[in-house]
Amino acid sequence: MTFKPSNLFRYPSSVVVSIFGFLFVFSLAQAEEPEQRVFFAGTQSCRACHQEIVETYVQTAHFETSQLADEHSIQGSFASGSNTLKTGNPNVYFRMEKRQDGFHQTAYRNEQSTIRSRRERFDLVMGSGRKGQSYLYWKDGLLFQLPVSYLVASGKWTNSPGMIDGQIVFDRFISPRCLECHTTLFRAEIKGSKARYSSRFLIGLSCEKCHGAGSAHVDFHKKDLQETEGRSILNPDHFPRERKLDQCALCHSGAAKPIKPPFSYRPGEPLSEYLEIEPVREGSRPDVHANQVGLLRLSRCFTASDDMSCSTCHNVHTEQRNLSELAQKCMQCHRTQECGTATKAGVSVQGECIECHMPNEKSNLITIDSGEEAFFESYRNHTIAVYPDVADQVLQRLMQK
Ligand code: HEC
Ligand code: HEC
Ligand code: HEC
Ligand code: HEC
Ligand code: HEC
Ligand code: HEC
Ligand code: HEC
Repeated sequence: MTFKPSNLFRYPSSVVVSIFGFLFVFSLAQAEEPEQRVFFAGTQSCRACHQEIVETYVQTAHFETSQLADEHSIQGSFASGSNTLKTGNPNVYFRMEKRQDGFHQTAYRNEQSTIRSRRERFDLVMGSGRKGQSYLYWKDGLLFQLPVSYLVASGKWTNSPGMIDGQIVFDRFISPRCLECHTTLFRAEIKGSKARYSSRFLIGLSCEKCHGAGSAHVDFHKKDLQETEGRSILNPDHFPRERKLDQCALCHSGAAKPIKPPFSYRPGEPLSEYLEIEPVREGSRPDVHANQVGLLRLSRCFTASDDMSCSTCHNVHTEQRNLSELAQKCMQCHRTQECGTATKAGVSVQGECIECHMPNEKSNLITIDSGEEAFFESYRNHTIAVYPDVADQVLQRLMQK
């Protein structure tokens, strides 16, 4: 058998043209932006004065949602025995390996007596690893998705979401919109006659993604240590409800059509000037993946109260995954006695508001073709409501305990 690099995996030229067209628009629009005098100071620069917040924030999924690839950030295993992904096609498989210049994914295809292969390096990790991770590689200044991802539910390597089992796909271009939701800043630049992503990017979601660029704030307070009122920085707590929601909706309102270039939105501004978001309608419930804003809007809790926003339950500065602590948030507006079911079932059930009223549901958007059974990722349904079937199941499960 012989090994030779394959040209089976070249990008089709139509893909290249559309990518460059898109990036060109992206970078032109950026060039028109006014010169900014305030810069991103970086999360670590906040530590001196907001130590407690920084310490908990750097452990959150937001902060870790994109990272440089290394042995800490990549969750999948490179140990022999667990570093191969077989596919339904006996002639196609992938291997994940640690080499001198980093971690690599290699695709192999057996063709009669020849094994063709294509190898690319893990450069960036997308996803904190709460549910899963995808991996990107650099090519000619652009980013592409690697064909193999990692799924927490199985603890194994798996085909990347949307890819077809048994096929080898290295040409899935990573759009600016993908990076807008998962990083703090990526810019496009023109090098020669070609558009590419600048190598000066800010990875992970920093404090300033939500509070606006902070260099002026840091400079001011370093000079005036007596000042107790925060200057030159956005506090979303002071935004009206719709602007609070917009801030999260930038990334938590599902698919949306860009109106202005990615990375131009500033918290506090109306998001509708930047993105065309599909309005939610009763009867056509949005998918549970990455559309918490649309789902929450359909809740009675939301429509019948003036001030419910994401911050009613979420403090984004720290990880919150304890469901009975989160259930306490319901008690800002409700009493257990309002719920006939919880009252009747007794104390063992009363902390389970979330399980019955915000059930975990399978997404139809995030599916993985593993060659065997398709896998659907689950998310909390943010339409807070009565789900009679779910309630029956939860009651049965709890009564058996
Ligand atoms: C040299 C000290 C210092 C540094 C560094 C600093 N801050 Fe502050 N910040 C303050 C002080 C003082 C206040 C006012 C008291 C308070 O709210 O904690 C404040 C308040 C704030 C507020 C609330 C503002 C308001 O209107 O209520 C936010 C948000 C904030 N800072 C974010 C940041 C971020 C993000 C960074 C890093 C980019 C940062 N700060 C770095 C000193 C600092
Ligand atoms: C720039 C995009 C972006 C913005 C803005 C944003 N999020 Fe997120 N959020 C994400 C991404 C991406 C994830 C998934 C992180 C991961 O696990 O990799 C996430 C995850 C979360 C989680 C799950 C965290 C966990 O530990 O389980 C919560 C809760 C959340 N976001 C709430 C909010 C709220 C509330 C706001 C507004 C104040 C907000 N987000 C703004 C992109 C964003
Ligand atoms: C995903 C968006 C998001 C990120 C990222 C974020 N914040 Fe906030 N921050 C908020 C929101 C929303 C509020 C107002 C409501 C609240 O307190 O939850 C807030 C309030 C604050 C306040 C004023 C109120 C308080 O709690 O003292 C400070 C100071 C602050 N943030 C600092 C930071 C620092 C420092 C970081 C990074 C380590 C950071 N924030 C990251 C969304 C964010
Ligand atoms: C509109 C914003 C948005 C876009 C665009 C987007 N994501 Fe996400 N992504 C999210 C949010 C929000 C979550 C977590 C919460 C959820 O799924 O409801 C998430 C979750 C993930 C996760 C799982 C993280 C974990 O540990 O659970 C991965 C991996 C991921 N995204 C990769 C990507 C990649 C790669 C792209 C582009 C090709 C992309 N996403 C595009 C918002 C976005
Ligand atoms: C900011 C206040 C607020 C919070 C927090 C809140 N709710 Fe509500 N909720 C309301 C209001 C107001 C109504 C409407 C009451 C009415 O119609 O009389 C409501 C209605 C409901 C209903 C009836 C829904 C329907 O479709 O008829 C359920 C169930 C419910 N809430 C459960 C919860 C649970 C569980 C939580 C916590 C996860 C929660 N709520 C958090 C304010 C809130
Ligand atoms: C009434 C309380 C409540 C409100 C309001 C609320 N959430 Fe949640 N959220 C929860 C609970 C409970 C969970 C489940 C936490 C867990 O399983 O770790 C959750 C989980 C999430 C997750 C993790 C994804 C998943 O399903 O696993 C994201 C992302 C999120 N919320 C975003 C938001 C955003 C954005 C808003 C505002 C539109 C919002 N939430 C409003 C209670 C709330
Ligand atoms: C075992 C499932 C289950 C649990 C746990 C549960 N609920 Fe309910 N809830 C229901 C069902 C079913 C209904 C509708 C019938 C009824 O009122 O009992 C309901 C109704 C409600 C209503 C609407 C009452 C009305 O008539 O508009 C509210 C508000 C509510 N629940 C809040 C809560 C809160 C808050 C908790 C946690 C303390 C909670 N529920 C725990 C299943 C549950």
